Amino acid sequence: MERRKLLKSLGVLSITGLGISLFNSCDTKTKQDTKSKENIIQKTGPAKNRKLMKIKDPEHPTTLELKHTPEITLGDKDAKGFTKVEITVGSKGIIHPAKKDHWIDYLKLYKDNELVGNLVIEPGMARGFSGFRIKLDRAKKLKAVIGCNIHGVWENTITL
Ligand SMILES: [Fe+2]
Repeated sequence: MERRKLLKSLGVLSITGLGISLFNSCDTKTKQDTKSKENIIQKTGPAKNRKLMKIKDPEHPTTLELKHTPEITLGDKDAKGFTKVEITVGSKGIIHPAKKDHWIDYLKLYKDNELVGNLVIEPGMARGFSGFRIKLDRAKKLKAVIGCNIHGVWENTITL
């Protein structure tokens, strides 16, 4: 019963028969409400860290930083004008592990500021990798954002 009250107070709609949970977005929520909601999610969900991380010295990234940096690789353009875009976590051949207790749990790709793809990865099931074919048209940049359940959220942007 306590769990039900907690979920209701968070604005979580749960359709257990379908296995779907959605957060109710509300424009009137305060910064404090958002912060406390995030804290509760971190304690109840698998991800222990949702903080946006930065490479401290881009000239000399550490192994941990390389391991969490999504590498964006552009491939060929097909006959319909879709360019292959691959994202690998991490970069320079230092690949992030895929274990039951430490894994890349999501990966997102943005074309300029528009979300193109959103992948959820189950614990220990797959490494942080995804491929898309997208129309780049007049896009100026691609950004990949990934989440490690322990080491936080990391991003990388390339200019086209
Ligand atoms: Fe990690």
